[in-house]
Amino acid sequence: MGAAQPLQIPDKSQAAVAMAGPSQLLFRGHLNPEGYGFPLIRKPFQLPAPVDQVSEFLEGLSEESLVLEDRWQDGEMGHGQDSTFSDPSGGELAVQWPLPPAQPITTERRLRLGVMASGSGSNFEALVQACQTGHLSAEVELLIVNNPNAGALERAKRLGIPSLVLDHRLYGSRQELDQALVARFKAAQVDLVVMAGWMRIVTDTLIQAYPERLINIHPSLLPSFRGAKAIRQALEAGVTLTGCTAHLVELEVDSGQVLVQAAVPVLTGDSEESLSERIHRQEHRILPLSVQIAAKRIGLLDQG
Ligand code: GAR
Repeated sequence: MGAAQPLQIPDKSQAAVAMAGPSQLLFRGHLNPEGYGFPLIRKPFQLPAPVDQVSEFLEGLSEESLVLEDRWQDGEMGHGQDSTFSDPSGGELAVQWPLPPAQPITTERRLRLGVMASGSGSNFEALVQACQTGHLSAEVELLIVNNPNAGALERAKRLGIPSLVLDHRLYGSRQELDQALVARFKAAQVDLVVMAGWMRIVTDTLIQAYPERLINIHPSLLPSFRGAKAIRQALEAGVTLTGCTAHLVELEVDSGQVLVQAAVPVLTGDSEESLSERIHRQEHRILPLSVQIAAKRIGLLDQG
């Protein structure tokens, strides 16, 4: 980080600052989209006079005396006072980009979704809930799990979503399993397929059947920490920010066009469980949005 920029103060009763680290404050009078990468903090106060003492004044503020920005108005980005450019993660300091639209997009056409899961299925349930609450103009038509003990199956029963098991151990190759997946999803006439915690490597057979329509959720800020145990990898690497990524699927594992990401801080004392729990909460936010974005990209939903 270079030296602090001279503060520009658009409104003399307030100053906006971006906090770059606990011991270092960088002052920004002028935030841009990149500026959102920092927790935004604003503290209304009376400016000391003369104005050139402001930097000294802000340096003297303790972290506690600053408040998390909740309604930052950024004219450059076209967000007004009522925009969703507030803490998008429910006050958890996590940051998501892109942000959800201010209003859920309602379209006449409802997308038909297929979902693949291997585990507990909390992301699958988040998708179903987004459909049911109107946050996503879609229906989950079919859940397929590869593991008969997947918790996702119980959720499907409770939520009334058709489900089936394609046990990967009963197939001779990855391609054969993927052929079976494609056959079932084609029969269910799904528009997009979401890998919501699918722990098998997929092949061209599935990817080619759903070009730009196959979405994966991964618990890291890709391209960091690809593959298995991404949360453990992040803890072991000692990063202070990790998160989750919803992206289109390509042949290379955990790569492909990023649709939505959310950054989640690693807190002192975090275990794999505690960090995973906070990342999951963000996954549940970004996965439905990523479906909307993927559908809009290829004209399945109107540009809203
Ligand atoms: C999620 O954290 C998802 O990102 C991860 O599996 C979990 C499934 O949770 N996926 C991967 O690691 C894929 N590489 P869930 O069963 O509760 O939705």
